[in-house]
Amino acid sequence: MERIVVLDFGGQYNQLIARRVRELGVYSELLPRTASLESICAEGLSGIILTGGPDSVYAPNAKTCPDSIFQLGVPVLGICYGMQYIAHRFGGKIEARAREYADTPIQMGNHPLTAGMDAGYVWMNHNDSVVELPEGFSPIAETEHCIAAFANDAQRLYGIQFHAEVAHTPKGTLIFKNFLEKICGCRCGYRPENLADRLIDAIRAQVGESGRVLGALSGGVDSTVAAALVHKAIGSRLSCVFVDHGLLRHNEAEEVVAFYKDSLGLNITGVNAKERFLARLSGVTEPEQKRKIIGTEFVRVFEEESRKLKTADEDWFLLQGTIYPDVIESGTGASDTIKSHHNVGGLPKDIEFCGLVEPLRMLFKDEVRALGEAIGIPHDLVWRQPFPGPGLAIRILGDITEDKLSILRHSDAILREEIRLAGLQEAVWQYFTVFTGMRSVGVMGDQRTYDYAIGVRAVTSTDAMTVEWAELPYPVLRKISSRIIAEVAHVNRVVYDITSKPPGTIEWE
Ligand code: XMP
Repeated sequence: MERIVVLDFGGQYNQLIARRVRELGVYSELLPRTASLESICAEGLSGIILTGGPDSVYAPNAKTCPDSIFQLGVPVLGICYGMQYIAHRFGGKIEARAREYADTPIQMGNHPLTAGMDAGYVWMNHNDSVVELPEGFSPIAETEHCIAAFANDAQRLYGIQFHAEVAHTPKGTLIFKNFLEKICGCRCGYRPENLADRLIDAIRAQVGESGRVLGALSGGVDSTVAAALVHKAIGSRLSCVFVDHGLLRHNEAEEVVAFYKDSLGLNITGVNAKERFLARLSGVTEPEQKRKIIGTEFVRVFEEESRKLKTADEDWFLLQGTIYPDVIESGTGASDTIKSHHNVGGLPKDIEFCGLVEPLRMLFKDEVRALGEAIGIPHDLVWRQPFPGPGLAIRILGDITEDKLSILRHSDAILREEIRLAGLQEAVWQYFTVFTGMRSVGVMGDQRTYDYAIGVRAVTSTDAMTVEWAELPYPVLRKISSRIIAEVAHVNRVVYDITSKPPGTIEWE
């Protein structure tokens, strides 16, 4: 067992660091910088990485971590703030002398940590930098304005000022590969299927010998992989529900429940909760309010279902397929709230369950897919396009009505059919239509129309953190547009969304 702990000082790309390490074959997890020494040292610690963050080391409440990590004898690599933190701790000097942002020219020295990295460009994002190294530390890379990396081989302490974890640092992965192989001495044998075993053990430890789990399934890959893991961990003590909140796509409820029963053999109950969701959402237009209402209502339905199943004083847990982008976009306290994902920021504070089981909380979508393939989830489900828990509610701008839902469902079914006929289902990461609420003038059959505009959104991505709008072939776009206008009543215009993320997000709300 080899394991790298990444201690979180609040930077934007911290989870990417843990992910890069996992991609290179060593299990890695992001822990809060205040994590206990026991959790940091738990089985097989091979090294520690300190992340970047927004603070300055001299600020009154500058973030710190347990000082004892420096006595553990394992290598410690600091990135950006993490590098400055190590330098400060050992008596170096930090100043806001020269800020560097984005692509910055760099000269690499000769050291195992930077082996194979050519002089070239790295991605910088800092105000402060180390201007005087502590005793025993040597510079191993420099830019025009700062010490870009240092090493203290005797004490096994290392630092890089640039962000090797982002794709904008060419060959940045080499820094992590060198750190793992040449500095920490890792064999790098970790694969997604090993992760399944770890997660299953952790589920058993959390739920205990007699605890039971209610699995909230959505038909998507995340909740399905999460349920498959829990099923492997505790067998029939898992009961699953699929809630039809009235905000699903055409035929979705029937197809999903049948699939879970037939292909995965899961014990699943379909719950029709259409009326109560639509009643609670009536007249609501504000996106965050919609998300919070839906998050709360989901939990209330799950509580009712678990009450029906509960006997004596069993402990019931709620299983959710939460993944890392849901967590970061909902805001972590250190990061801003972009939108409250229904299963994180939209979750009510008072829940009847004795805990949440979220085995995928630290993973990105493509890692979940690799894990799903590794544990034998059918290929079509693993690659099913994502569909958000709040469903069509966040694809209707403004208030939600049955008429608008019906227009949206119909246009979405046409889009999906045309994407399938063009053989683009796996090339395009996610695709759907949006009820824009905007009306405009048109002319159909020699008559004036004043009807709705439908938006078409199609994107490519690997992990939903950054996306490009998909360059769908013009003939496909033409067919989608003409079919939607011809077949869906009250639509006279179709627009294509050509916004990437950032600055847009995938969903419109
Ligand atoms: P955004 O719109 O944030 O979407 O770029 C990123 C991915 O997350 C999905 N999404 C959600 N999934 N609950 C979910 O289960 C939510 O509240 C939620 N909001 C967005 C979205 O469809 C895309 O795949």
